[in-house]
Amino acid sequence: MKPLSVVLLMLLAVPCFAADLTGNWAVRDPLPDGTFRTTYLDLHQEGSRITGSIRVTQFYYKIVEGAGGPDGFTLTGSMMDGTNERRVKYEGKLVGDELHVATRRRPDSELIQMVAHLAPPGEGAYPARLPPPVIHKVPYNGLAKTPPMGWNSWNKFAGRVDDTAVRSMAEAMATNGMKDAGYQYINIDDTWEASRDLQGNITTNKKFPDMKALADYVHSKGLKIGIYSSPGPNTCAGYEGSYGHEEQDARTYAAWGIDYLKYDWCGARNIYTDQEMQAVYQKMGDALLTSGRPILYSLCQYGRDDVWKWGPEVGGNAWRTTGDIRDTWDSMTKIGFSQDELAAWAAPGHWNDPDMLEIGNGGMTDDEYRTHMSLWSILAAPLLAGNDLRNMTPTILEILTNREVIAVDQDKDGKQGRRIAKSGDQEVWVKPLSEGAQAIGLFNRGGTPEKSTVNWSDLGLKTAPAHARDLWAHSDLNLGGAEYSVTVPAHGVVMLRIAK
Ligand code: GLA
Repeated sequence: MKPLSVVLLMLLAVPCFAADLTGNWAVRDPLPDGTFRTTYLDLHQEGSRITGSIRVTQFYYKIVEGAGGPDGFTLTGSMMDGTNERRVKYEGKLVGDELHVATRRRPDSELIQMVAHLAPPGEGAYPARLPPPVIHKVPYNGLAKTPPMGWNSWNKFAGRVDDTAVRSMAEAMATNGMKDAGYQYINIDDTWEASRDLQGNITTNKKFPDMKALADYVHSKGLKIGIYSSPGPNTCAGYEGSYGHEEQDARTYAAWGIDYLKYDWCGARNIYTDQEMQAVYQKMGDALLTSGRPILYSLCQYGRDDVWKWGPEVGGNAWRTTGDIRDTWDSMTKIGFSQDELAAWAAPGHWNDPDMLEIGNGGMTDDEYRTHMSLWSILAAPLLAGNDLRNMTPTILEILTNREVIAVDQDKDGKQGRRIAKSGDQEVWVKPLSEGAQAIGLFNRGGTPEKSTVNWSDLGLKTAPAHARDLWAHSDLNLGGAEYSVTVPAHGVVMLRIAK
């Protein structure tokens, strides 16, 4: 038997002997705009073996190699992104109660040194998997009878969007002719989120001091306001997502006066498989329906798992069909001209979304932007401008507000157009319109002006249509004969509306 004093001494000494790396270490990564993201290293040390997980922005890595101890350790984290493996490596040591760690953004880039502290319990840890709900049909919310039109912050501003920018964009849309042309939504994309309060309510970061006041302002301009989140714990940019808080967040959005939600898969891929997407999206679809406010539901999961087949079932009003657009001819045409086979899935209330517009962002010519606007309208796509509305050339404004082209997009029958002919770089697309009219896009994907021809018989017409209008020239055409031929500018379009 040891004397009591010895036992007490041993107990007191335990924390010293136990000093190891075990703990959930957090590195706060402040960004210049006053928001922050946190990297977490959730470590478990047993002897010289270290296991656990690492969370960086939206990604959770499982530690697959971890060795060492307080005086020096190395870790390798691994995660699967589809079929690609992503890896991160860290090295470090314990200094007092701080964990000094270093990593490289790429294998050949310089070491970044960071200091981590123990995080409050539960924070940043790999979240427990919440079982996805049983599939059922979410009733249609009655919104988006025609494709949504508005503006979204991401393409131009990415993380630089804030309250002031959103207000001035609403002001611009209300006064520059866009609102009169049908644009309605002012949508805040990623990077508005801070953490949750003690009741689990999502809060806004410094850039958005008062979301309700902002929504009131946008409404006062006769417009509607949209917001962004993810079904995962994190958004794509690494901010707080709605995971496990779906109903609570939907209620918060409703209380703020939000009219539109873009819901981006990103952080959910760490927890769920693509095959579980429907159930996961259904959860927010239900939550929005019971939030007490009509909120347009826009799914963003890059067209995975044939979303068009189940988008309406989860209450979705629109679903992205592709990865992110960029402001280049290649990116825009690759996306736009690949939508042909999805036509059957578009209908009033439920739209294929080939991503937001890049018109006016500077990476394409005016003719290329006319192609962008025409193609998206023939596709009955959401028309979400992605440029700086306060500052655009008259030509860009004219492209975005061409009412005759917009009328094609907004046609009440809600039919998506299809490619009816292709010859080299020339493509002819046709969109059926209400009352038997049709919109025709003669597209020239080549780099030099080319003659393009449409045969009336290909459109099911026996003779030339009685009424024809050139929607960019804003002039009526007198057509005769069996076909119509026109020279189309390089990377350009001629767009017609014909009626019997
Ligand atoms: C994804 C989406 C984009 C944008 C960003 C924000 O990449 O596809 O449209 O919302 O996330 O982080």
